[in-house]
Amino acid sequence: MGEFKPMTFLPEIFAPERLFFFWKGRVALYTILKAMGVGEGDEVILPGFTCVVVANAVLYLGARPVYADIDPLTYNITPETVASLITPKTKVIIAQNTFGLSPDLDALMSLAERHGLYVIEDCAHGLGGSYKGRPAGTNTHASFFSTQWSKPVTTGLGGIAYISDDDLLPKVAAIAETLPRPGLLTESILAGQRLVRPLADNPHLYYALVDAYRFLTQKLGLSIGSSVGDELNSVTMPENYLLGMGKLQHKALQKTGRTLKAAVRRRQKIAQKYDAFFRERGISVPYRPDYAEHTMLRYTFRVPDKAAILQKAQRLHIPLGDWFVSPLHPVEGDLSRWGYRAGQCPESERACRECVNLLPEQDVSLGQLKQLLSAD
Ligand SMILES: Cc1ncc(COP(=O)(O)O)c(C=O)c1O
Repeated sequence: MGEFKPMTFLPEIFAPERLFFFWKGRVALYTILKAMGVGEGDEVILPGFTCVVVANAVLYLGARPVYADIDPLTYNITPETVASLITPKTKVIIAQNTFGLSPDLDALMSLAERHGLYVIEDCAHGLGGSYKGRPAGTNTHASFFSTQWSKPVTTGLGGIAYISDDDLLPKVAAIAETLPRPGLLTESILAGQRLVRPLADNPHLYYALVDAYRFLTQKLGLSIGSSVGDELNSVTMPENYLLGMGKLQHKALQKTGRTLKAAVRRRQKIAQKYDAFFRERGISVPYRPDYAEHTMLRYTFRVPDKAAILQKAQRLHIPLGDWFVSPLHPVEGDLSRWGYRAGQCPESERACRECVNLLPEQDVSLGQLKQLLSAD
């Protein structure tokens, strides 16, 4: 990975020699876990409110994912929800930055230090945010980011790892160096998808394009999808999972990265507009504690009938997200394959039933929001 140039859009603290680039964020996570020595017999604590690929990375290494419940206000794990799950087998805590808000990382680090554990910041939602004035991704032993479609800086697919811990650094470097890159055809298809992606910013095309993308990816295998079928129904590593970042992907990252600050600021501004609207109607707005800067990747609120509002949004051409539909999004139903028992994380399960999210990059108008929330 050595020939890649520094990421000038990241704050200076992200030393180039501590950054590693991957085909997807989940590969960055897998690499970090492997470098931490996670394997058979180990336990890794992660939120029971996450993307299934996070649990998969743990399972691919033969370790056991242990699910911590979330705080209903922050949607994040807390030292309280994690502490009782720590056993002599625990090796790592994955501290996810949900929807763009960091968990209380200093408190989680203190807990980890008391038990000799590693902490990984899952910043898939958090690029451009901060915790106590320090950039998200620089607060624990290691972190990773995603530059997948839905993120403010997108290369279609992509992952970045940042390693703060000095002992871990050479171990991650050694693994990252051995990873093959995606082939030219794969890279070219993804580059083509990047070209049509801006069309999805048109609310009238949004749902049609999302459906077309899912059909082409999942049914026909003709486009490069975020999660391939096996990742959603098996806990065995799929073929071509372990890849470094491609050259075209990396070029795209350097180019679009320059827009990061402006993209996050724009989302935060639009979120403020939504705040006023929701407050007037007595609906709780996303929590922003003093200690963290929320990137507003998703503007999440709770509704009494999630299915009905999602249907209505589609009818009205208002982009509305369903994150997360289950403790291991997007897999629904029996999650025992991933070691999750129904009822294990009640606050998470309630959030899955109640939460929908606006996508602030779409800047839905207040008139549209009024229609969405009207009683008809
Ligand atoms: C919380 C969380 N962590 C990790 C990931 C994995 O990122 P990627 O899709 O780049 O592998 C995702 C997916 O976007 C996610 O939502």
